Amino acid sequence: MTAWTPGEKNLIAAAACAAPSVHNTKPWALELHDEGCAELYERLDRSLPRHDPLGRDRLISCGAALEHVLLALRVLGWVPGTSLFPDPTRPDLVARVTADRRAEASDEDVALHAAIAHRRSHRTPFGTAPVDPGTRARLLAANRTAGVGLRVITGPGEAAALAGVLTHSALVLRADHAYQRELSAWTAPVRDPLPGGGVSSATGRTATLPWAGLVRRATAVPDPAALAGRLGAELLVLVETPDDGPHDHVRAGMAAESVWLAATAAGLFGSLLTQPFQLSESRAGLTEALSLGGFPQLLLRFGHGHHHEERSR
Ligand SMILES: Cc1cc2nc3c(=O)[nH]c(=O)nc-3n(C[C@H](O)[C@H](O)[C@H](O)COP(=O)(O)O)c2cc1C
Repeated sequence: MTAWTPGEKNLIAAAACAAPSVHNTKPWALELHDEGCAELYERLDRSLPRHDPLGRDRLISCGAALEHVLLALRVLGWVPGTSLFPDPTRPDLVARVTADRRAEASDEDVALHAAIAHRRSHRTPFGTAPVDPGTRARLLAANRTAGVGLRVITGPGEAAALAGVLTHSALVLRADHAYQRELSAWTAPVRDPLPGGGVSSATGRTATLPWAGLVRRATAVPDPAALAGRLGAELLVLVETPDDGPHDHVRAGMAAESVWLAATAAGLFGSLLTQPFQLSESRAGLTEALSLGGFPQLLLRFGHGHHHEERSR
C-alpha cells in the first residue's frame, strides 16, 4: 500500500474522465485515497428517467470508467485488485480498486491506454473496407472480463433480425415526446461537448440509422431491408451477460470498453449503442431472433474511417 503521487492521481483521473458514458452524463465520482486505494461511485443524480429508467446504462458507463482506471494503474506499473460492490451499506460504491503490487505494464496495456485519447463515438458511415478476420479476433481477445459474452452478428439473416429490432425501436422512440425532450436536454450544440456536458447535436439532424446512433425527432429511419444491407458491411458485436443485475451491467461496460479501445488502437472507428434496447420488446425480440443464451446489454459497431478521418488521427 502506498500513497499516490500527484502525477499518478492526474493520470488515473484523466483516464476515468475520458470514458464513454450514456448521453455523456459521466455518472460516476472517483475518489483516490492516500493508502493506494481508488473508489468509484455511481452518481445517482445523473439520471435519465426516460432513456434509462433502471439505471442499467449508468452502471455500464461506470464499468467503462472502471476499465480506464484499471488500465491507468497497470500503465503506472501497478497490479490492481478489484472488488465490485464491496460495501453492502454503500450500494452506490461500484468498485474498490487497490494497487496491490508492482509489475511492468504489458505492451498491450500501453497501447490500450494510449488509445484512450483517440477513442470517440463515430456516428457517421464507415469506409467500405470490411474489418479483416485477424483484427476482429484481436478485438474480441482484448476482453478480460469474465462473465461477459461477445456475440458477433454474422450473415444476412442476423443482420435482418437486428435491422427489424432497430427499426422498431427507432420508430417508437422517435415518436416518444418525453423521451425526445430528455435527449434534447442532454444535447449540446457543439461538435465536442465537454465531459459530462451531453451529446453533440452534430450528426443529429441528417444522419439515419444506424449511423446516427441516437434517434431524434428528425432522424430519417430507412426501411429494414436497406438497413440490413448497411449493417451487413459493419463489424457488429453484441455484448451479453448471463444475468441482468448490477454486476452484469458493470462487467458489460468493462468488456465493451476494452474491445472499443483495442479497436481504436487498431486504427478502427466505433460506437456503442444501447438506445434500441431500452424497449423491453426489442430486447426480447433480439434474444429470440438470435437465440441468445444471456441478456443483451449493448451493441458495438466497428469499421474503417474514410481516408480524411484516418489521416486526421
Ligand atoms: C452505456 C452507454 C450507452 C450509450 N448509448 C448510445 C447510443 O445508444 N447511441 C449513441 O450514439 N451513443 C451511445 N453511447 C455513446 C455516448 O453517447 C458517448 O460515449 C458520449 O457522448 C461521450 O462521447 P465519446 O464516446 O465520443 O467520448 C453510449 C455510451 C454508453 C457508455
